[in-house]
Amino acid sequence: MSVNSRLPGFYKLALDERFAALAEASGADPAALEDLRAERDAILPIADGMVENAVGLMPVPLGIGANFRVNGRDHLVPMASEEPSVIAAASNLAQVARERGGFFCSTTAPLMIAQVQVLDVADPHAAKLRLHEHRDELLAAADEQDPVLVRLGGGARELEVRVIDGPRGTHVVVHLVVDVGDAMGANAVNTMAEALAPRIAEIARGRVLLRILSNKADRRLARARAVFAADKLGGPQVVDGIVEAYQLAADDPYRAATHNKGIMNGISAVVLATGNDTRAVEAGCHSHAVRDGRYTTLSHMERDADGDLVATLEVPMPVGLVGGATKTHPTARAAVRLLAVETAAELAQIVVAVGLAQNVGALRALATEGIQRGHMTLHARNVAIAAGAAPGEVDAVVRRLVAGGAVRADRAEAALSELRAGAPA
Ligand code: MEV
Repeated sequence: MSVNSRLPGFYKLALDERFAALAEASGADPAALEDLRAERDAILPIADGMVENAVGLMPVPLGIGANFRVNGRDHLVPMASEEPSVIAAASNLAQVARERGGFFCSTTAPLMIAQVQVLDVADPHAAKLRLHEHRDELLAAADEQDPVLVRLGGGARELEVRVIDGPRGTHVVVHLVVDVGDAMGANAVNTMAEALAPRIAEIARGRVLLRILSNKADRRLARARAVFAADKLGGPQVVDGIVEAYQLAADDPYRAATHNKGIMNGISAVVLATGNDTRAVEAGCHSHAVRDGRYTTLSHMERDADGDLVATLEVPMPVGLVGGATKTHPTARAAVRLLAVETAAELAQIVVAVGLAQNVGALRALATEGIQRGHMTLHARNVAIAAGAAPGEVDAVVRRLVAGGAVRADRAEAALSELRAGAPA
């Protein structure tokens, strides 16, 4: 299936025309993508099986990140976000990156860590070595919990033991490091940790309390690198501005939090669209931002020897293709189909590429005209709708708001009254 991620003029099409254009560009069977626009009545019964006390849905807009080329292959990227400008900015910067080959991405092995906390150990350092002596037995017992994962090439890989002396006592913490393959992995590693706990308690001669994965998924990293030509970004001074903006994020946690939020705008949108666990990915990214003891930027912006911008990003990326909402939610399934990925690693690479595009998009806007101008029209649409404009009235109200230079609820109400009274724009 050959995908063309270029979708020129896509935003100008009507909703139905966009769907047809998407089906054509993706090369997928349109019926296989139909669930991208599934109606709420189709999803409600599924929602009831997904969470407790279900009463409804909270639909979030799903759009397409265009122009993405990752490791030489085009991908149309489903993005779920309530925020205006996010999808446009990512698509825009993906187009700039494309000129220099797109995004070059890599991943580590998909290793997740389960922690088992052991308390009341009289001899923690000796317990640590006793546990290491039983490594093979413990790894084999872990693998017995998930023969399917083992058959697919995954399974328990390492046993690490940490002795943590805290003000409230000493914890012996066992890390079970598991290759979770194409799963997000939480279920697999939690099951293993719970199964191993009694034997770990016995060997350590202590009392086990927590048995749960760590969301500091720093053994499961995804990385993206892209070059953005200076002339396509708006000139060398824009590259300088982006690098200077990045430098503040590198030096100042107040700016770093916002810089990283811009990255998460892209990352969370793809993670959500594919039915993956946004909070797990966010927790992993935040822990990564403070991995050296000081909160800082997740990405790096440099000027290369040719004066172009080279941007890089590395974050934990615990996303999967099997299990969870990715398998049960029809929209998520259709989103994964559209992405045309075979492995969780490929999905992780696309997610991190989108995070990087988003980040550069925000920095370019901030280093030039600021973000408000770009936001204005979409923001005005939201304000017009909130003021009560019917679909046929929205564009006219938006034009009045933007021309008036103040996008506010009171102005929208006034513009709507004028429009309905037949006043000229
Ligand atoms: C807004 O959602 C995200 C930005 O604030 C990111 C940034 O400042 O880099 C524009």
